[in-house]
Amino acid sequence: MIACSTCGQENPAGARFCNACGAELAAERTTAREVRKTVTVLFCDLAGYTSRGEQLDPEALRRVQSQYFEDARAALERHGASVEKFIGDAVMAVFGIPQLHEDDALRALRAAVELRDAVSDLGLQARIGVNTGEVVSGSGDALVTGDAVNVAARLEQAAQPGEILLGEQTLRLARDAVEVAAVDAVAAKGKSEPVPAYRLVGVVEGAPAFARRLDSPMVGRDEELAQLRQALARTVRERRCHLFTVLGPAGIGKSRLVAELATSAREALVLSGPCLPYGEGITYWPLIDIFRSASAEAQLDDALAAPTSEETFLAVRRFLESLARERPLVVVFEDIHWAEPTLLDLIDHVADWSRDAPILVACLARPELLDARPAWGGGKVNASTILLEPLPEEECDILVQSLLGTRTLAEDVRRRIVVTAEGNPLFVEQMVAMLGEDGANGDVPVPPTIQALIAARLDRLPADEREVAERASVIGKEFDRTAVAALAPEPLRPAVATCLLGLVRKELIRPHVEEDAFRFANLLIRDAAYEAMSKELRSDLHERFAAWLAELEAVPERDEILGYHLEQAYRYKTELGSLGDAGRELGRRAAERLAHAGRSAYARGDMPAAANLLGRSASLLGDGDPEGLALLPDLGSALFEAGDLARAREVLIEAGDRAREAHDLALGAHAGLRLALLDVHTDQEKSTMAGLHRESERAIEIFEQAEDHAGLAQAWHLTGLGHFWLGRTGPAIEALERAIEQAQRAGAAREEVESLQWLPIMLIFAPVPAQDAMARCRQIIESGGGGMSVEAFALIGLGTHTAMHGSIDEGRELVARGRTALQELGLRVSLGGTSIAAGMLELIGNDAAAAERVLREGHDLLEEMGETGYLASVTAILAEAVYRQGRYDEAERHALSVRDTVASDDLDPQARWRGVAAKVLAQRGELESAKSLAREAVDLVESTDWLHLRAELHCDLAEVLVLSGAGQEAAHSLEHALALYEEKGDQPDADRVRQRLADLRAQPPTTS
Ligand SMILES: Nc1ncnc2c1ncn2[C@@H]1O[C@H](COP(=O)(O)OP(=O)(O)OP(=O)(O)O)[C@@H](O)[C@H]1O
Ligand SMILES: [Mg+2]
Repeated sequence: MIACSTCGQENPAGARFCNACGAELAAERTTAREVRKTVTVLFCDLAGYTSRGEQLDPEALRRVQSQYFEDARAALERHGASVEKFIGDAVMAVFGIPQLHEDDALRALRAAVELRDAVSDLGLQARIGVNTGEVVSGSGDALVTGDAVNVAARLEQAAQPGEILLGEQTLRLARDAVEVAAVDAVAAKGKSEPVPAYRLVGVVEGAPAFARRLDSPMVGRDEELAQLRQALARTVRERRCHLFTVLGPAGIGKSRLVAELATSAREALVLSGPCLPYGEGITYWPLIDIFRSASAEAQLDDALAAPTSEETFLAVRRFLESLARERPLVVVFEDIHWAEPTLLDLIDHVADWSRDAPILVACLARPELLDARPAWGGGKVNASTILLEPLPEEECDILVQSLLGTRTLAEDVRRRIVVTAEGNPLFVEQMVAMLGEDGANGDVPVPPTIQALIAARLDRLPADEREVAERASVIGKEFDRTAVAALAPEPLRPAVATCLLGLVRKELIRPHVEEDAFRFANLLIRDAAYEAMSKELRSDLHERFAAWLAELEAVPERDEILGYHLEQAYRYKTELGSLGDAGRELGRRAAERLAHAGRSAYARGDMPAAANLLGRSASLLGDGDPEGLALLPDLGSALFEAGDLARAREVLIEAGDRAREAHDLALGAHAGLRLALLDVHTDQEKSTMAGLHRESERAIEIFEQAEDHAGLAQAWHLTGLGHFWLGRTGPAIEALERAIEQAQRAGAAREEVESLQWLPIMLIFAPVPAQDAMARCRQIIESGGGGMSVEAFALIGLGTHTAMHGSIDEGRELVARGRTALQELGLRVSLGGTSIAAGMLELIGNDAAAAERVLREGHDLLEEMGETGYLASVTAILAEAVYRQGRYDEAERHALSVRDTVASDDLDPQARWRGVAAKVLAQRGELESAKSLAREAVDLVESTDWLHLRAELHCDLAEVLVLSGAGQEAAHSLEHALALYEEKGDQPDADRVRQRLADLRAQPPTTS
């Protein structure tokens, strides 16, 4: 048997054209292939059949039995099921084979009710289980294979006589048309958890599987509505019929648009009727509703009783004309893509022949209509057709909001809904409804209703188009014709272009800007096409696509893309348990490509990408692989910079352990260095600065022996950081310069970049006058050497010094530009850390409130990542910003939180918290403790070369002294501070200190 891919009709083997619809039947290769589908499975068994067997004569029993089989088959097939087998008295049927329908779950439940009733008419009782899930079909003896089948069987066994039990997914898909009662979960073989089950209480006659919401306010569509109104106005003016067709994919809003017309066009009588997706030759079904609404059932009966369809057409038209003569008439035929050809002929007839009567015939259809009737509406002067486009994003936003009502939703979830729905209001609606079910603010899973809708559409495609869509889905959301052709089987290749056009016409894909390029109209369509393929085929196609790409010249990001496809090919093979040597080789090639792409992402400072690519490569290579091990230190660093501190630690510890086992000293040193740096940022228990120093010294020795220049660059870089944080910017900068030299020698771009990034930051603290530092930063920017991240840090250094030089606004803009770049690069730790420079800048500009804002942002970001090193300094400066706004208690809380958490040798925050806490004490009159704490702060950093911080702490001390009435001593401290600010070239601060000195001198001394 060959199932027709157009209409689903089974045809004898060898047939070339379908017996039912005449479509060309697909060749063997497409019917025999394996596909994955979400289907609904029904099991039915008879209760008490054996005992009945004892009572009845075998002949009578046989009659009952064959009647049962006949009834069962009829009920099931009427609803579009494939009936699988009769074992004893059990029946299994699958809804979705050969053809998926968007309402398969509901069909199964309707069939179940009919089946139960039919069985009970025979004086027997049925037990029925219905369940929905993903299965594989198309090869082997079984119609379908999958867990969903077992679960359906279990549900049937658990059902009481006369009962229908259904699974959760079935319920979800049919929820608005059924009434159920919860029952105990059912234990099923091979399942760790019992399966939730529901008893079917009833199916609501005529209800759709899931309700559309007409209550939410209409958004947009003004133009389309105006077109409809104009058409109506013309029919009234000219007293003639107009055929208005609204085309668009499921859920785009066709019914809603016409409903809007109906509510607003009060002058007209609006009658509408739907076409059904299936039924027994109910050609004129929509007319039943239409005539009933006009209380004209009798007229319809007469019309349908006419001996020929011509006469029926005539009677229907006459009736509609008579109605329209009383009042303008709008007749709506919904979903005419499901209409029988005769109904379409009837509509044509009404449109062509109505006279002297204002009738607007509105037909709503999905684009598939044009497959059956390519010329629909064409050649008529009184016809127009519009295609409903997706709603623009702003309108989707409004729709989400109105559907949410008073509920709130996290911004990223809302975005995801709008992006995924791509302008389809039904998708928006269903996703918002899912939120309600699964608890708001989580992920937004794709609603099963939408999945079913899309999968059913794809399943109805002609075999060639479907195959083309599937091949395209392997490439991605966007793809071009040549790539699809490369993946298509040989005989299909010449037809690829035509198939793509067919898919465009059906609104499944859209032409892209570039010639011969396309994109799926919706990511969900891509996913559905992809998911319909067997994993084996997916694996195969990914591999072939990679091979094809590898042959091309000049593919941007070739390694990354190739790596991805090889990786997918490998993963599916793993999942299928069919790896083999060739499969393992695939994995290795994937890992190689990804590692290569990861290393270049790392070198250009794209840390989120590097973390992702290196991580995937390492996981493909597995634990035992030395090449995988070699990736780990960089992976750890990338994770760290991208803000995943916890995983960075895991990876670096693993790297250290495995390096030790492998006796790889150099690799161990690489891991050790990075872990020591991570400690500075996350572990405030230890004296981390000293640890960093120790680790770098050890590493230098190892790397020198190994002549590992990239390693030496790393080690010198960290030596530099150690010096810097211990207050020795002179030696720190020297060390960085050595690091840069080593990196250049090794051609290690990343190491060079790291050191170049730090230079401008160190300059802020260094005894280098602002003007010179500005020149140095400009030079780094102009040399353009290290790419975007180096420039970002240089901008921050330049901006901070520009502020010191007196141009606060200009400086602020530079810093902001630099930090925006860091954000774009995903360098989250650095983004948090550089709030220090941004906060300092605002304090130099004397805007404590602005300083508080940026520092608070930095504080929250670092805290969220679990970073504690920069956080200590950020919090201490935040304390100062709060203090300057007169909120002393709060300032003290921040200061003391630093005291309680900071590493003992982290000088900057150690000194800063003391400065602020001392001032708060002095404000409270605790003068002695205040003075000693302020002096302690000054002493802590006195031996450093940090001009700016020393100046600040002298100012703190001066403030404490003023509050203690020690004016002269205070003046002395201020003079100190002034000298330091002047040396640094920080003019705004120097000016303020000068002013304070003048004020102080103008006051009469209170004590000596
Ligand atoms: N412009 C709109 N503003 C607000 N809601 C809308 C809009 N368009 C559609 N909707 C809502 O989206 C859902 C789907 O719309 P509708 O039922 O009209 O789609 P359709 O195109 O008729 O789909 P189908 O082909 O499945 O019949 C409905 O609940 C409808 O209320
Ligand atoms: Mg509709």
